Amino acid sequence: WGEEGHYTVCKIAQARLSNTAAEAVKELLPKSAENDLASMCSWPDNVRKQFPWSSSLHFANTPDLTCNYQNERDCMDARTGAKGRCVVGAITNYTNQLLHYGSNTESTYNLTESLLFLSHFMGDIHQPLHCGFLSDKGGNTIIVQWFENKQNLHQVWDNSIIESEVERFYNSELGEFIDAIQTNIMKVWGNQVEEWENCISNDIACPITYASESNEDACKWAYKDAAEGSVLEDDYFRTRFPIINLRLAQGGIRLAATLNRIFDKHQYVM
Ligand code: ADE
Ligand code: ZN
Ligand code: ZN
Repeated sequence: WGEEGHYTVCKIAQARLSNTAAEAVKELLPKSAENDLASMCSWPDNVRKQFPWSSSLHFANTPDLTCNYQNERDCMDARTGAKGRCVVGAITNYTNQLLHYGSNTESTYNLTESLLFLSHFMGDIHQPLHCGFLSDKGGNTIIVQWFENKQNLHQVWDNSIIESEVERFYNSELGEFIDAIQTNIMKVWGNQVEEWENCISNDIACPITYASESNEDACKWAYKDAAEGSVLEDDYFRTRFPIINLRLAQGGIRLAATLNRIFDKHQYVM
């Protein structure tokens, strides 16, 4: 996602934290953030150049037209071939680092960075084209026309659909957009929230599930009727923005659930 997408996911998540998790997040955030996680959730995008090793951690790709994420095959840095270096592996890694919070091995890690990376990657893994196809780099090489503008399909999903929605339906106020998603979480998706929160086999996070869902949505919604040179306007916008709203909601809910499980870890055997 772009700035607004990450901000939305982290706003939704922070409002759902348990007391213990909220306390830990507050302690880990730099003072300058004034206890606003959302204000720092794009930090990993800002340090991508400084930390070249982090670049491949923002996504995972399947072979072309393969709408079926397979972690063994698909989670790697395509440039170096290093296994596990994708958004799925990153979520597992930063979740494990944060489990050291409050223990005497805590100082081995910079847990502020772990929190910001986990929060950012939990957003990215829910963006369908962050689990798209390898050869088009998740839509980055597919040039389309979005209303009057030429851009790539990945940008349409990271930014443009959200921006059009906020402008058209929420008076250009991102806060109103976030409020609307939070209302939907209560009124429309209320009976599914628990299912989104839980992982099979009681894992703390289940990124393979999230990547599989995104990959399916990429095939079904993002790539569909959006070949190179397509003109994407009202029809595409109307049918895709509800998918984006759902993925932002799921990202926020799952980030909160994961942070709650991490910091309420006295329930688990360490
Ligand atoms: N950003 C850069 N490369 C990407 C890829 N292959 N998939 C998704 N997002 C990306
Ligand atoms: Zn992106
Ligand atoms: Zn990212």
